[in-house]
Amino acid sequence: MDRHIEIFLKRLSFAAITIATLTLLLLFLQTPQTCIPPNSPPKPHLKFPKSSCDFSPRELLPLDKKNRRLWSSKAWQSRVSSLSQFFTSIRDLGLLHNHSKVLCVSAGAGHEVMALSNLGVLDVTGVELIDSPPLVSRADPHNLPFFDGVFDLVYTGHLEEALFPARFVSEMERTVRDNGVCVVVVEECGNDEVRKIVDLFRHSSFVGAAKVSLIGLRMTRIVMRTRKFN
Ligand SMILES: *[C@@H]1O[C@H](CO)[C@@H](O)[C@H](O)[C@H]1NC(C)=O
Repeated sequence: MDRHIEIFLKRLSFAAITIATLTLLLLFLQTPQTCIPPNSPPKPHLKFPKSSCDFSPRELLPLDKKNRRLWSSKAWQSRVSSLSQFFTSIRDLGLLHNHSKVLCVSAGAGHEVMALSNLGVLDVTGVELIDSPPLVSRADPHNLPFFDGVFDLVYTGHLEEALFPARFVSEMERTVRDNGVCVVVVEECGNDEVRKIVDLFRHSSFVGAAKVSLIGLRMTRIVMRTRKFN
C-alpha cells in the first residue's frame, strides 16, 4: 500500500513538473501583445522591449560622446561664436574680466557658458530647469540655490520666457554683488519695453540699452548695475 502511494506521488510530481515546464515554455515563446500595428513604419526608439532587461531600444550614449557630438555641430559652434562676440562687447565696456564670477540664468544647453569659458572667463556657472552636464546645472531661476551677492555678473537671454519676471529679476539681483552687473538680452524692442524691464530691477540703476545682433537675431541688450545699499 505504502509503495503504491509513493509511486502515485512520484507520478504526480512528474506531471506537475511537466506542466510547469510547458507553461514556462509557452510564456517564453509567446510574443508580447502590442498596440502597434504590424505594418507601421519602424520606429527604433519605440521598439517594444522583449523583456524588462532589454535596454537595446533606448540609445543611451555615454555623456562625453553625446557632448562631443553636440559641441561639434555647426549650429552649436556658430551660436557659441556669436555669443563670444557678444560677451567680448560686454568685456570692452569694462564689465567683464577673466576673474569675474559669472552666472548664466536659464542657460539652456550651455552655449553662453561655453562662450564665456572660451573668452577666458574662469568661473562661469550655468543653471537651467533641466541640467546639461557639465556646462549647466539644474536650478529654478525663480529660486536660485546661491547665497546673496556671490556673482560679479549675472546674464540671461530668457527673461521674456520667465513665468514670473519680477521674481526672476529679483533673484538675479539677489545673487549679484553690490555694484555688480546684470545683463539681459531680449528681442529687439523700443524704449517703452526697455523701461518696463528696467522697472523690474528694484535695486539697480540703468547703465544702458543697445541694439545688438545675436545668433542672427536682432536683440536689445540691457545692462543694469546693482545698488543694494541706498
Ligand atoms: C583672459 O584669458 C584669455 C584666455 O586664457 C587670455 O587670452 C587673455 O589674455 C586673458 N585676458 C586678460 C586681460 O588677462
